[in-house]
Amino acid sequence: MTGNNLAIIVLAAGQGTRMKSRLPKVLHPIGGRPLVGHVLTTAGRLQAAHVEVVVRHERDQVVNALAKDYPDAVFVDQDDVPGTGRAVQVAVDALPGDFEGDVLVLSGDCPLADADTLSAFVEEHRASGAPATLMTALVEDPTGYGRVVRDADGGVDRIVEQKDASADEAAVREINAGMYVFRASTLRTYLPQLSLDNAQGEMYLTDVPGLLRRDGDRVAASVVSDISVTFGVNDRAQLTEVGRLLNQRIVRRWQLEGVTVIDPNTTWIDDDAKLSPDVTLLPNTHILGATVVASGAVIGPDTTLVDCEVGEDATVRRTDATLAVIGAEATVGPFSFLRAGTVLGAKGKIGAYVETKNAEIGEGSKVPHLSYVGDATIGRGVNLGASTITANYDDVNKHRTEIGDEVHTGSHTVLVAPVRLGAGAKTGAGAVVRKDVPAGALAMTVAPQRNIEGWVAKNRAGTGAADAASRENSAE
Ligand code: UD1
Ligand code: CA
Repeated sequence: MTGNNLAIIVLAAGQGTRMKSRLPKVLHPIGGRPLVGHVLTTAGRLQAAHVEVVVRHERDQVVNALAKDYPDAVFVDQDDVPGTGRAVQVAVDALPGDFEGDVLVLSGDCPLADADTLSAFVEEHRASGAPATLMTALVEDPTGYGRVVRDADGGVDRIVEQKDASADEAAVREINAGMYVFRASTLRTYLPQLSLDNAQGEMYLTDVPGLLRRDGDRVAASVVSDISVTFGVNDRAQLTEVGRLLNQRIVRRWQLEGVTVIDPNTTWIDDDAKLSPDVTLLPNTHILGATVVASGAVIGPDTTLVDCEVGEDATVRRTDATLAVIGAEATVGPFSFLRAGTVLGAKGKIGAYVETKNAEIGEGSKVPHLSYVGDATIGRGVNLGASTITANYDDVNKHRTEIGDEVHTGSHTVLVAPVRLGAGAKTGAGAVVRKDVPAGALAMTVAPQRNIEGWVAKNRAGTGAADAASRENSAE
């Protein structure tokens, strides 16, 4: 849509009392971004000449959460006069005085209206020639919404808020979605006429249609067929419901792009994540943040990836990973914990009960069992024996471990950083490596084994162990 003559006002100044939350309602996240972030992302797609966000409750927190991601949005402060009418009024006052286009009003708590729906809405408004157009929907349960009261010939007469509605009005099932297009001049004329004379003592934007009708003007209504685009979030139950609908939409979008999703009900994909054709997502998998998954990768079950990059044909099961890069054909899991800065090379392996952090693990290298690898650089073709640990922290500073190509460590090796193992080096089982190991050397730190024959018979006579030992010894 060419939006030179379109301004968008996003209402985000309310507290959201019904959320019962410290966090302002419009900042509650679904699909990886705040509710109002979805509205602003959609607003961005409409390429309007002006996008304004009205703020008041916790205004700094709201502005800080949005300013970086939406640099073109202008934040406008609402004063202490309450209500959606006042919110729109301060925003209209902040528009250039000569702006004479249309104003699309959106709510920061209605994140499901997509760009196609909204541009069709604006087009419909323009085609109708009415000074104002409401988005409405026919719903089973209109509780909480403003009701659209129509006159004898079916035109919009006025909007009545739930708290001001008579029993007859409350029974109306056509609701005001809280999205409107107005001519800027209409708002400049009518907003100053709003009063606080209603059940909530607020300036209702929803009184504008009634005032237009009083003056003999017409108000158009656009009845949406997919009522989910109108769903607003006022409480936590609605937050869950709207979050679920958004996720369904995202999952379906990726299914149609060639991603196999075994169980959409337990698969959660953030709006910013990117998947490729032939990715398979197994049940209970969360693809969060800006995670990118390449073709052929199989993720899950029971896996959470936050801001990760997964290469082609990699396998990641029962894993929790954040800011990790997993190479092509690598395997991760089950029960692996990849923290920020993990980079696993192509065909590498991070196995069961392994935690990694800030670790570059080269192509084809394996950390298969029960290890902690932190602040390490590991070459190619390395195999860390079961329960090899980098001791990277000396209570004061973190230190690095460097491991050359083709190094194999024995089980239960402790690498006390800073330390370096040269290419091809090996360590004995249980080694505590405090000094660098030259390329090709074997590092042994455990004393040679000493067997004290008969110790159990002498010191543990009468125990099961002593009996079993005596049986084995006499059989020989
Ligand atoms: C509003 C409408 C109602 C409609 C519903 C649709 C009014 C009076 N009522 O009711 O007819 O059915 O939306 O979802 O408009 N806000 C401000 N400043 C304020 C008050 C609110 O910016 O002073 C913002 C809120 O942050 C929110 C939006 O406006 O994003 C809507 O406010 P809310 O209190 O949720 O209105 P509803 O009761 O849902
Ligand atoms: Ca609302």
